Amino acid sequence: MPATDDPDYLNREQHFSDAGIYRISENQALVQTVDFFTPIVDDPYTFGQIAAANAFSDVYAMGGKPLTALNIICFPVSCQPLEVMESILRGGCDKIIEAGAALVGGHSVEDPEPKYGLSVTGVVDIDKMVTSEGANPDDLLVLTKPIGTGIIATALKGEIITEKDAEEVINGMKALSAAASESMIRVGVSACTDVTGFSLLGHLYEMLLSSISAAEIDYQKVPLYPAVEEMAAMGMIPGGAYRNLDYMRPYITWSGEPEKKDDALIILSDPQTSGGLLVAVPPDRHKQYLTVLQENGVSGQTIGRITEGPAGRIVIA
Ligand code: CO
Ligand code: CO
Repeated sequence: MPATDDPDYLNREQHFSDAGIYRISENQALVQTVDFFTPIVDDPYTFGQIAAANAFSDVYAMGGKPLTALNIICFPVSCQPLEVMESILRGGCDKIIEAGAALVGGHSVEDPEPKYGLSVTGVVDIDKMVTSEGANPDDLLVLTKPIGTGIIATALKGEIITEKDAEEVINGMKALSAAASESMIRVGVSACTDVTGFSLLGHLYEMLLSSISAAEIDYQKVPLYPAVEEMAAMGMIPGGAYRNLDYMRPYITWSGEPEKKDDALIILSDPQTSGGLLVAVPPDRHKQYLTVLQENGVSGQTIGRITEGPAGRIVIA
């Protein structure tokens, strides 16, 4: 699309932004994002919660505070009961309330395939804003949710596991990244992005390109949801994981045990729904960030560090 030169659109030149940042006063900017998708669980209320949590995630990744949300819903009104649509919207609404935002409207479209999500507007103090730029060599990489939601969603679809077995993943996807975001603002970090469709590797790569740096990650330290390795070994792998890995292969060096390589790389390429924040923290604040996360009930895992080296290069052990 043609570039805008509006100077109040503060991240107009960044290629990998989680949300649009638009200055509204000397110190404050709007944070704007939209996200919606097809159901990934059968239960409509749960789907609504997940879709809303996922939509808020980009605002939290930039250190913003959500203010308002608009519903976007596509629904087959003529062939599915309206109660289903109501449950989806109710799930979303409960997350909007939890986020402390106001639901101010929305739009619906008749569509054979249901879809739901939100457009979210937040606000951020410009001097506290966090972007995917700014990661420095020696910063530690902290991930605030486990990965594997795409693999587990594929296993659910294939009826290899039940929604009861997938409870931990579903709870993880429903969880807002509000506390993880507040914690990073409190401590002060170098860079952040949220892990979504392009997978842990893809979003890390974007951060590295934006920050002109490289990274090392330790696969053993990457938190996985229960049964992810088992389901991946059974072939419950979404198409998006293969596409992500194909794209990332030229930028990856595997330095771990050769026999673990294929399984690890596909899991690290798994597209995430409502994934956690990936945060680059200066070494002298790392311990404090983990402590603040823990106090806020978030389990942050340190999965690697930023290094010098060709921009975008990821070494995985
Ligand atoms: Co994002
Ligand atoms: Co997004």
